[in-house]
Amino acid sequence: MNTTIKQIEEILHNAGIEEYKQETKLIIESVSDLTLEKIILGEEIKNIDKIIEIAQKRADTKAPIQHILGFAYFMGEKYIVNSDVLIPRDETEILVEESYNLIKNKNEKIDILDIGVGSGCISCSLAKKLINKEIEILAVDISLDAIKTALENADKLDLIRKIVFRKSDIYSKIRDCEKFDLIVSNPPYIPLKEKNNLQKEVGFEPEIALFANDEDGIEFYEKIIKGTPKYLKPNGYLAMEIGINQSELIKNILIENNFKDINIIKDLANIDRIITAHI
Ligand SMILES: C[S@@+](CC[C@H](N)C(=O)[O-])C[C@H]1O[C@@H](n2cnc3c(N)ncnc32)[C@H](O)[C@@H]1O
Repeated sequence: MNTTIKQIEEILHNAGIEEYKQETKLIIESVSDLTLEKIILGEEIKNIDKIIEIAQKRADTKAPIQHILGFAYFMGEKYIVNSDVLIPRDETEILVEESYNLIKNKNEKIDILDIGVGSGCISCSLAKKLINKEIEILAVDISLDAIKTALENADKLDLIRKIVFRKSDIYSKIRDCEKFDLIVSNPPYIPLKEKNNLQKEVGFEPEIALFANDEDGIEFYEKIIKGTPKYLKPNGYLAMEIGINQSELIKNILIENNFKDINIIKDLANIDRIITAHI
């Protein structure tokens, strides 16, 4: 094996980083601008000092590698990330795919509301997938700093025409006349009582993006679902990412609020992860 690859793997592995192989690949490929395959086939690695510096920083601080690099990949695109936004997770890609499938065949203008935009990964991915449709996405967040990052990402991906950003506490700044075909959200859903059981890396992410204050972590789902009669168009859809052990609780709230066609989709770890419903 190439000695730099081996060295980086060792630095990360010795620091107890579980995904040391994936992170080695990410660091080397992004800093040297070469694929690991090419390096293994003999191409010379550039910026070795920088690569070692980044790996050492990751090992010493345990800050998420995405924060050290300043970006994360989501659906094949690079998103700027920082301490103001949640690092986009792989599971959220399933939410994007499911949301897209719900609305892709609509021929008239499509209006989407993204609650808790964070880095902008959901809004930008939907805007990109629906690039040939007439769409408008309203992306809200309670954090102005998150909105600034989302705006930067939308600009970088040339999607700024498709997305309107607004600071709002869930629906607080949504006007009565604004109606949506799809409300999508990956709200904070970790019960606060689990704060001390999380990986050290999660502590670098904003608490406002992670935690719900109630026992089961479902306070945001209740608020989002209760607001839908006012803001969903007739036949509109709701699609949300959910946490472990929350699917039954949230399904019941959806039933109580007259939703139908409730669909629960599992992630790769076989955990109920996405819930979609139709009003
Ligand atoms: C789990 S993160 C999701 C971020 C991004 N959509 C993603 O999937 O990676 C939740 C987001 O909700 C935002 N948020 C928290 N409380 C909120 C509220 N009351 N109203 C609107 N957004 C809120 C947080 O700032 C954070 O950006």
